[in-house]
Amino acid sequence: MHLHVANHPLIDHKVTVLRDASTPSPTFRLLVDELVTLLAYEATRNVRVVEREVTTPLTVTRGTKIASPAPIIVPILRAGLGMLDGMTRLLPSAEVGFLGLKRDEETLEAITYANRLPEDLSGRQVFVLDPMLATGGSLIAAIDYVLERGATDVTCVCLLAAPEGIENVRAAVGDRADVSIVVACVDEKLNEVGYIVPGLGDAGDRLYGVV
Ligand code: PRP
Ligand code: URA
Repeated sequence: MHLHVANHPLIDHKVTVLRDASTPSPTFRLLVDELVTLLAYEATRNVRVVEREVTTPLTVTRGTKIASPAPIIVPILRAGLGMLDGMTRLLPSAEVGFLGLKRDEETLEAITYANRLPEDLSGRQVFVLDPMLATGGSLIAAIDYVLERGATDVTCVCLLAAPEGIENVRAAVGDRADVSIVVACVDEKLNEVGYIVPGLGDAGDRLYGVV
């Protein structure tokens, strides 16, 4: 598994505003959207392209286009939905699959309540979106779903990650596939109830309100 931590002053500035408990939902949503677009630049570094010819006003030259089959973006509901527009803005030809996962706040296990993924993901590049990588249970479940369907190339885009969660994902993935995580910031630790510290609280609640 490959980990890429963004190291950029604009990203750090926006993450700091996200962390601020007084940032209201509309600003929080806007910042999540902006951050994803910045992270997507790195996350798509290895997106597959094929050559194509292009006629400029002056001549004919070689260029590229996104290869087929199109990449698929998989936001993990709820909070991952806040990242979808920012990602599709950069990859408009991608398709979108949905996974609804909810962490049981007692056991911290991920429970699946929705799964709308294509049956066959072989040959597809997959981009999984979830702002928070805490214990890693949700991301591991999502990675398992896409690997079971034949994906071999998976990039996860997260905003904050706990070191414990990163190691759990690394151990769970092993050498089964080519999995990368692109994250804005790796935080200090998980607290005793599985929240990322210093973190930003419950990302779903901050985006969409308390369930
Ligand atoms: C949050 C977050 C991740 C998960 C991370 O979702 O968006 O999906 O927790 O925790 P983990 O790494 O320990 O699995 P939550 O279950 O709160 O659902 P929500 O997005 O609907 O609020
Ligand atoms: N889910 C969140 O939304 N925040 C955390 O800190 C951990 C899990």
